[in-house]
Amino acid sequence: MKRIEQIAQRFDQASATYEGAAELQWRAAQSLACKVLETPWEHPKVLEIGCGTGYLTQLLLPRIPGQWLVTDIAPSMVQATRNRFSASAAQFRLLDGSNPDLPAQSVDLIVSNLAAQWFEDLRGALHHLACCLTPGGRLLLTLLGRESLSQWRAAVADTGHQAGTPTFPTAQSLAGMLPQSRVSAQCVTLSYHNARVYLNSLKAIGASLPAPDYAPLPASVMRRAMQLMGEPCAVSYEILTLDWVKP
Ligand SMILES: C[S@@+](CC[C@H](N)C(=O)[O-])C[C@H]1O[C@@H](n2cnc3c(N)ncnc32)[C@H](O)[C@@H]1O
Repeated sequence: MKRIEQIAQRFDQASATYEGAAELQWRAAQSLACKVLETPWEHPKVLEIGCGTGYLTQLLLPRIPGQWLVTDIAPSMVQATRNRFSASAAQFRLLDGSNPDLPAQSVDLIVSNLAAQWFEDLRGALHHLACCLTPGGRLLLTLLGRESLSQWRAAVADTGHQAGTPTFPTAQSLAGMLPQSRVSAQCVTLSYHNARVYLNSLKAIGASLPAPDYAPLPASVMRRAMQLMGEPCAVSYEILTLDWVKP
C-alpha cells in the first residue's frame, strides 16, 4: 500500500474518535480562522484541504460566503464534515491536497489546518497549490514544525533508540519553500495523564503512522520511554502558520 493510502486509512478509521482527542487541532483551527477572517473576502472560491471532521470549516464557511470546495483524503472525514452542513453549503469531495487535480488559477483562497505535515513532498505540494491560486489569491495553512513532540523524542532517545515521529519542517525551511511567504511559529504544550494517554490520543485522531520505513520499537523500549515521560506528562507542539499571497 502506498504511504498516502496508509495515511488515508488511519484517518478514515478515526473520524468517530477524532474529536475526543483533537484539542490541539481545535486550538490551531481557532487561531487560523482568526487570521483568515482578518481579511474581508468578496465571495471567493475557497479550497479547504484536509478538513477532518470540520473544525476549521465550521469556523470559516458560515462567515465567508463564496464557492467552497471542502476536501480530505479520508472518505469518513469528508462525510463527517458534510454532515455538519446543508447539501448546498459547499462541494465536499475526496482530494489529495498535495497534488490537487484542479485547474490552474481556479481558487482565490486555500486554507488547511494541520494536514500538510502529512504531505510526502511538501515543497512540491506547495507549488501545486500555488498554481491553483488566482493572481492575488492567498494560501493560509498550519502544519506541525520540527520542535513538535520533543519530549517524546527525548524520552525514546534516552532509551538509546529513535522515535518514529515523522520529520517536520523548521520554520525557516518552510519559509524557503515559497518565496515571499510569511511563516510564524507558536508553541502549544498539552498535559496528558501519562504517556499511554498521549499515544492513545494519536491513535484516536488517526495520526499514529510512523515515519516511512520505521520499525516499531520493542515493547520493553516503549514501556521504558513511557516511564521516562513521567505522570502527568507534557507534550509540546510547534504550530507553523504559512501565509502566502500569489503575486
Ligand atoms: C490532524 S487532521 C486535521 C483535520 C482538520 N483540518 C482539523 O483541524 O481538525 C489531518 C487531516 O488531513 C488529512 N490529510 C492527510 N494527508 C492529506 C492529503 N494529502 N490531502 C488531503 N488531506 C490529507 C487527513 O485525512 C486528516 O483528516
